[in-house]
Amino acid sequence: MPLKELLTKKITEMQEQVKTILKEHGEKVLSQATVSQAYGGMRDIKCMVWETSLLDPMEGIRFRGYSIPEVREKLPKAKGGEEPLPEGIFWLLLTGELPSKKDVREVTKEWQARSEIPKEVWKTLNALPKNMHPMTQFSIGILALQPYSLFSKKYEEGLPKAQYWDPTYEDMMNLLAQLPAIAAYIYRRTYKDGKRVRGKKALDWGANFAHMMGIDNPEYSELMRLYLVLHCDHEGGNVSAHTTHLVGSALSDPYYSLSAGMDGLAGPLHGLANQEVLHWIQNLMKKLGGKLPTKDELSKALWDTLNSGQVIPGYGHAVLRKTDPRYVAQREFALKHMPEDEHFKLVSMIYEVAPDILTKHGKAKNPWPNVDAHSGVLQWYYGVREYDFYSVLFGVSRAMGVLAQLVWDRALGLPLERPKSVTTEWIKQNVVNK
Ligand SMILES: CC(C)(COP(=O)(O)OP(=O)(O)OC[C@H]1O[C@@H](n2cnc3c(N)ncnc32)[C@H](O)[C@@H]1OP(=O)(O)O)[C@@H](O)C(=O)NCCC(=O)NCCS
Repeated sequence: MPLKELLTKKITEMQEQVKTILKEHGEKVLSQATVSQAYGGMRDIKCMVWETSLLDPMEGIRFRGYSIPEVREKLPKAKGGEEPLPEGIFWLLLTGELPSKKDVREVTKEWQARSEIPKEVWKTLNALPKNMHPMTQFSIGILALQPYSLFSKKYEEGLPKAQYWDPTYEDMMNLLAQLPAIAAYIYRRTYKDGKRVRGKKALDWGANFAHMMGIDNPEYSELMRLYLVLHCDHEGGNVSAHTTHLVGSALSDPYYSLSAGMDGLAGPLHGLANQEVLHWIQNLMKKLGGKLPTKDELSKALWDTLNSGQVIPGYGHAVLRKTDPRYVAQREFALKHMPEDEHFKLVSMIYEVAPDILTKHGKAKNPWPNVDAHSGVLQWYYGVREYDFYSVLFGVSRAMGVLAQLVWDRALGLPLERPKSVTTEWIKQNVVNK
């Protein structure tokens, strides 16, 4: 069944289910919020619906019920490849069903057909300073596409609420088709010769993205596919997901919503951590004259980082309480393709040493590595050495999850988000002095 037809069927089913749940269980309690949670980043308060994925603190992410090892095994692969195609995870996120090979081919074709970028958008990008951070350029690039939003147009024409999801779907498909070309051009104009590499019709989404960046290495295409799958979604409360969802709740169109989400991804505690890991690793190797540290030297460096009040980048997580399976998947890739790489060896050593140190240090609730502890090292190995670009790669992937959810937000008629805030004075009067 074609993607949009399948989605229409799923939406009708889900709308009925949600109606019944709300009617029969709407008053039941999901979570309560404490004073510490109000001051503490609202951790663990269950107060939002996110259909595309669910994060278990011990097991890690499941996309529509499938774990990362399952997704790597079950999703269709490119011809001759072993990593799942991002088109497949997108299909799964959006519909909840595993796609066939033919289904993912159709998605590739559809994105190819929608990938043309208006001249004005190139002009906007060309007007930006070349030394502007790639994430800033990326966010601006997304906003430059906003005038083409079908949702905005249809909304102005008075589209009934029940149909909001339809132009949201169209905007999502156009955006996903266009983002790799935008991102790749930002890479080329910021770091390379500034010439645009045109996409190739025969290539899948991930391989084409790599090609447009100027990298035609089948192994890197495999990494790109894996990377785009691993970073696509991490339930709804993380900054990029929640921001996209929140801004979308004002019925700002998918372009505004995604651009806002990307601004959140640009933060050092979120998407920027991957470049900080590589920076930390390389600084350490530089200090040691380019060689790998001994375990004692490494322990000292980790303690020095902690004692100077800094975090160990790539370690810890707001929800996870064990090694991130996205870290494990990247480690497996590295073991297969680049076991002798010095950076990878150091990443492995840190994995042996850091959890103990973080546990002794006693602050981080999770002493284990997250997705960012590994990704920069893989990019570096294949020649993508411009740290600042790594969050853009993350962003292209994350767009799949947050946009798929945005379609569901509209399909389920989720309203404007407006949680209640209080002042410290209010807490004093209503909690402390009660
Ligand atoms: C991811 C992260 C932001 C989660 O934050 P969080 O939910 O507030 O984490 P915790 O509840 O475990 O934090 C409790 C304390 O441990 C500290 N901590 C957490 N991770 C740490 C790390 N990797 N190194 C050192 N200290 C850490 C926190 O800074 C906090 O200290 P504070 O009480 O002085 O403010 C945090 O672990 C971090 O900064 N990690 C490094 C950056 C990173 O890898 N980000 C990518 C996330 S995918």
